[in-house]
Order: sequence, then structure tokens, then C-alpha cells
Amino acid sequence: MEMPATLDALLRELRDRLQAAGSDEPGLEARLLLGAATGLDTSALIARGLDVASASQRERADTLCRRREAGEPIAHILGRRAFWTLDLEVSPACLIPRPETELLVEQAIAAIDACERAHPRVLDLGTGSGAIILTLKAERPAIEAVATDRSPDALRQARANANTLGLDVTFLQGAWLAPFKPEDAFDMIVSNPPYIAPDDPHLTRGDLRFEPREALAAPEAGLGDLYTIIDTALLHLLPDAPLLLEHGFDQARDVRARMQQAGYREVQSLRDPAGHERITIGSRP
Ligand SMILES: C[S@@+](CC[C@H](N)C(=O)[O-])C[C@H]1O[C@@H](n2cnc3c(N)ncnc32)[C@H](O)[C@@H]1O
Repeated sequence: MEMPATLDALLRELRDRLQAAGSDEPGLEARLLLGAATGLDTSALIARGLDVASASQRERADTLCRRREAGEPIAHILGRRAFWTLDLEVSPACLIPRPETELLVEQAIAAIDACERAHPRVLDLGTGSGAIILTLKAERPAIEAVATDRSPDALRQARANANTLGLDVTFLQGAWLAPFKPEDAFDMIVSNPPYIAPDDPHLTRGDLRFEPREALAAPEAGLGDLYTIIDTALLHLLPDAPLLLEHGFDQARDVRARMQQAGYREVQSLRDPAGHERITIGSRP
């Protein structure tokens, strides 16, 4: 096959291949892959579109595109994912941060701003790449930031991101609130735990096939970890402090019921831009 001569032509070829492979965003993904293959950012790719692509650039672009055609997530191929204003390193050890989680971050920032203490203690449970706690620390540097995860590999990734970004976060390994003593209390606890039912067929499709199962699936039809957090977080919240949880689009009613039953007050769910109730908030009395 005759290889395309210019970067523009190579970009078009990648886009067509990705489209044929079923990508939802073939233009964006083609730019990202060509950027990784050439070391050029989007504006440089536009400015230098008529440059002839070198043989090694074509070969690298072809290799990356084959991986994507085989279904590997674009974030794993690039080793990065943008979240909020941060550029995070990601690996198969952690969940790829999702744009939906930015709603949780927005609400967490509002809760920090509503806290009267100068250095609110904020805890992120199941931090993965560190997406939530690192964004909160970057946006509100005065917080005392703490995060946990059961997975040592995910924690390594989160620590690496914190170091790269120069953000001071305490990371602890363990199951949900197990790393804390009864007297450890926070001004806010936030979590995006696993919430997919173990038999959900989505787990065998798309990007999810490449992500850690323990970051995605939870027992009790996906509600088990949410329930554990709801039941145990109350002991570690200061009076009036909120718990903010992300959950599945059809789990809000169950999450609200469990929070009310556990004794939280002002329990409410909020909708994402698509209109789904994706987060639920409740406060310790
Ligand atoms: C859905 S991912 C969320 C990752 C990250 N917070 C985000 O929003 O991108 C859930 C995280 O919870 C962690 N996890 C799963 N079970 C856990 C448990 N029992 N205790 C603590 N962390 C757990 C997983 O390792 C994973 O990093």
C-alpha cells in the first residue's frame, strides 16, 4: 500500500481507520495518536500539516493505531488522560478518570467552600489515579487532603501523579475506612466507588475490558461498596460534614434510602448534564 505523504494525509488515514473500527471520536483520537507518534501538539500538527511524514512517524502512528483498532483504551495507549484541568498519568492499574466524575468534583468544591474551617480535612475513598483528590487539592490548596485505595498499584499511580503535579496528599492503603482510627474525622468524605453489577454485560465491552475489575464491579447488584461506605463513613464525619457519592444512573433511589436509614440528613441526589441522578449527598447530623 502506498503510504500517505504528508502529516495531514496520515491524519486522515488514521481517522478513517478508527472510524471503520467503530470509534465514537475518530477525529479526536486520530489527532491524539498522531500527536503521540510525532511529539507534536494539535496546533503544531495543524501548522505542519503539509510536512512530509517520516517513515518512523508513519510506523509509530501505525503501531498506535493498531492497538486502538484492537480495542485498547486511548488513555492506556497514550498513558494519560485529561481530567478537570489536570493531565494525569494512567495505567491499567487504575480506572481511567471519567468526565461524569467532574460533577462530583464540582459539588465537592462547593462543599469545601461552605466549610468554615481554614484547612478542611477532605478524604477521597478509592482514589484510583488520584483524579478526585488531586483536583480538589489543586483547586483548593488549603485543604488537608487524604486518600485511600485497596489496590497498592493504583496507589502507586496516584502518588506518582501527586509528585508530578507537586500536590501534597496523604495516601493510605486499605479497604474503605479501615486505615483510620475511630477518632479520625473529616470535614468531607467523597468517593466514586465501584458500582457496576458483576454480571453487567458492559464489563465485557469497550474500555471496561481493559480496566481493573475491582475498580468497576461491586456485589449486591453494584450497591455493595456504596452501602459499606455509607454505613461506615458516618463514624468518620464531623458534625454537619457531608458524604458525596457517585453511583450508577439507576441507583440514586437505593443510595438515598440507605443514607436516610443510616441517619444522614439533607439527603439529595443531583443530575448530570444528561439528566441522570449520578451523585448523592448527605450530611452527618
Ligand atoms: C471506580 S474506581 C474510582 C477511581 C477514582 N476515584 C476516579 O474517580 O477515577 C474505584 C476505586 O476504588 C478502589 N476500591 C475497590 N474496592 C475497594 C475497597 N474495598 N477499599 C478501598 N478501595 C477500593 C479501586 O481500586 C478503584 O481505584
